[in-house]
Amino acid sequence: MIKFNKENQSFYLETNNTSYIMYVNEHGHLGHVYYGSKVEELNNIEDFLPTYQFENGTSVSYDESSKGYMLNYTLLESSTYGKGDYRTPLLHVELPDGSRTVDFIYQSHEIIENLHFDKMPQARKTETLCITLKDTVHELYLNMYYTVYETENIIIRNTKLINKMEGSIIIDKALSMQLDMLNKDYQLLKLNGAWIRERNISIHDLSKGIFKIDSKQGNSSNTSNPMFILKDKNTSEQSGDCYGVTLIYSGNFEANIEINSHNFLRSNIGINSFDFRYTLESNDEFITPECVLTFSNQGLSALSENFHSLINEHIIPLNFKGKERPILVNNWEATYFDFNQKKLLAIAKKAKQLGIELFCLDDGWFSRRNDDFSSLGDWYYNKKKLPSGVEGISKKINKLGLDFGIWVEPEMVNKESDLYKEHPTWAIEIPGRTPALGRNQMILDLTNQEVRDYLIETMSTVFSSGNISYVKWDMNRNISDVFSQTLPLHKQKAFHHLFILGLYEILEELTSRFPHILFESCASGGNRFDLGMAYYMPQTWTSDDTDSYERMLIQEGTSMAYPLSMISNHVSGDRSHQALRHTPLETRFNVASFGVLGYELDLSKLHKFDIEAIKNQIAFYKEHRNLLQFGTLKRLTSIRETNHTIWQVTNKEKTECLILYFQDKALVNPAFESIKIDGLQEGTYKITNRTQYMNIRVTGDLVNHVLPVKLKVNGTALNMIANRYLMKSEDFSKTMTSSQLRNMNLLLFHTFTGTGQNEKTMILPDYGSRIFHIKKIEIGD
Ligand code: GLA
Repeated sequence: MIKFNKENQSFYLETNNTSYIMYVNEHGHLGHVYYGSKVEELNNIEDFLPTYQFENGTSVSYDESSKGYMLNYTLLESSTYGKGDYRTPLLHVELPDGSRTVDFIYQSHEIIENLHFDKMPQARKTETLCITLKDTVHELYLNMYYTVYETENIIIRNTKLINKMEGSIIIDKALSMQLDMLNKDYQLLKLNGAWIRERNISIHDLSKGIFKIDSKQGNSSNTSNPMFILKDKNTSEQSGDCYGVTLIYSGNFEANIEINSHNFLRSNIGINSFDFRYTLESNDEFITPECVLTFSNQGLSALSENFHSLINEHIIPLNFKGKERPILVNNWEATYFDFNQKKLLAIAKKAKQLGIELFCLDDGWFSRRNDDFSSLGDWYYNKKKLPSGVEGISKKINKLGLDFGIWVEPEMVNKESDLYKEHPTWAIEIPGRTPALGRNQMILDLTNQEVRDYLIETMSTVFSSGNISYVKWDMNRNISDVFSQTLPLHKQKAFHHLFILGLYEILEELTSRFPHILFESCASGGNRFDLGMAYYMPQTWTSDDTDSYERMLIQEGTSMAYPLSMISNHVSGDRSHQALRHTPLETRFNVASFGVLGYELDLSKLHKFDIEAIKNQIAFYKEHRNLLQFGTLKRLTSIRETNHTIWQVTNKEKTECLILYFQDKALVNPAFESIKIDGLQEGTYKITNRTQYMNIRVTGDLVNHVLPVKLKVNGTALNMIANRYLMKSEDFSKTMTSSQLRNMNLLLFHTFTGTGQNEKTMILPDYGSRIFHIKKIEIGD
């Protein structure tokens, strides 16, 4: 709901649980009043504003007549530099006369229906409040947009700068939104990482000064994700106040969290102003990416739920909204570059037998691509590996009963390629300077229209060359040697932004030409895990790290802002190719199943044990796919703080949920564990565990104490048995009411302590895990 109160010139935005209040103050500035838990409309705004009566020492007053009005100590919706506000501004521009002071005051407002910005990723909207501000001197306008999503408790914001002056202006900074408030000793939660350890949660106290998170890599980056949360010190997963911010953008971003001398807290986010300068011609406009803002007084899980619902409902492509995603097998970790058609078909055949639904042919299928030194840019099939081409293999895969998908990395080129030889100026490179390489490759200059047209046509040819229903779109290096050989001088410093807009133009065209294709975004795993990509590609390859322990941390962090339906996870082989860690096959599945599931190992080499276990996993996933991809996630505990990560995913009706119980280290003779299960409809529930299989190797030489014959540990006979014998996990089955689950907790079986084992004992080694299924029953069921 969006309301305007003429009396006191205030805007009141309301969602189911939150209120956002701003007003036009006596000087014409758009002041911020409040954002947080729902409150009534205000008739007494002044009572809530921190206002000084007199000028404060060395501060600058806005004008002669009101000495106490200092912009540095005012809560504002938009800010510029030059009139006494010394905090990081929303906007910083240079006017044709060389001055940098602008002062925006309220001019008008309107409600816009179905607002859509061309060629930009964004949330689908119904009603948007647009407040137009104008510089006090010049014909320079700033539109401030606010779209309210009531059920999701979200406010989407961005801005448009319109230059109606005679000359062009230079934009040095144009952020998407700022949020001013008085600091209540908030903490900052952010997602940091690197390749194969993306989006780990880190929480910090704030202090005076500016804390900045950003990316200068050319993509939204695996080092800092474009999101942050401000939370009360004692806010936990299930209770307390927190504010969440994300950005619908895939390029360089910055977010500043700043506390000034008098505890005014300003946070903002938008395009990174580092290495950015945009010339805005007369009669032209500049649109900033959309920012997603949310608040919860119910803790972090509820805050995430707000983000998740918005993304699932209003950001991912409509064609895939609520649509269950296929279980796929990807050949990358199974074969790397070393494959031929026979090998691929053997994997696909086994995949079909296991219940897998789609085969994705990864890197190495084109030109002379037998390692990562060559061929990016030459998107024609390798005749040795694929004698009948992409079309041929896609038909063969379809014939086996699987859908077919393919890997591409269109934004890249190797020096060792026909494309580079033909069009050397299409790569990002500064003439006369040797370019820095990443994974031996260079990046194509997407600011160049010719390159964009070429990529649209080339990819259209690839995507039409077989029955392709899924594309993994990769991007494996950061940008360096930033320069375009075709952009005019005054546009060079807008390169990063123009590159991303170029990418969006390509994706806009390809996703509308191929609306049936499910795109999965990838950038060496999660180097571009953001909502800009999600607008075109419903899911993202979360990380090249598939080790379950690491994945628990990565998926936990990722889920802070992004829904399970976006988080693509694979069960890979033993041992993890990244961590060289052994984790049980069932744990690899349990962790991967919370999101979009795939397998990435050589299925043609599995033993009977693995085959049966995986068949069972896939059947379970299919039965609960909707819950695992679209259910409401609650993070109950984390291995960051305790020995267990426990997650609950619940259906919309609140009649069914799954619990993931993941253990870090095996505890010897531990105390009993119980889990508080909340959020279910009143009634009676049946609780069971997913049947899992253990490899008897887990028991080491204890096996000789239970078998009638003595076997050599790691000997041929034991190995033969281990590869075939399916040792069933305990049999957990209870019936409890929702209030018992909530108040008395779900008590787990005790774990194996070395003295005996039966169907009521849980064998839980290091990185052991379980999934519990809880479903409402009618009495008598
Ligand atoms: C990246 C991806 C991997 C795989 C390789 C292929 O690293 O993240 O999944 O596709 O590229 O080169």
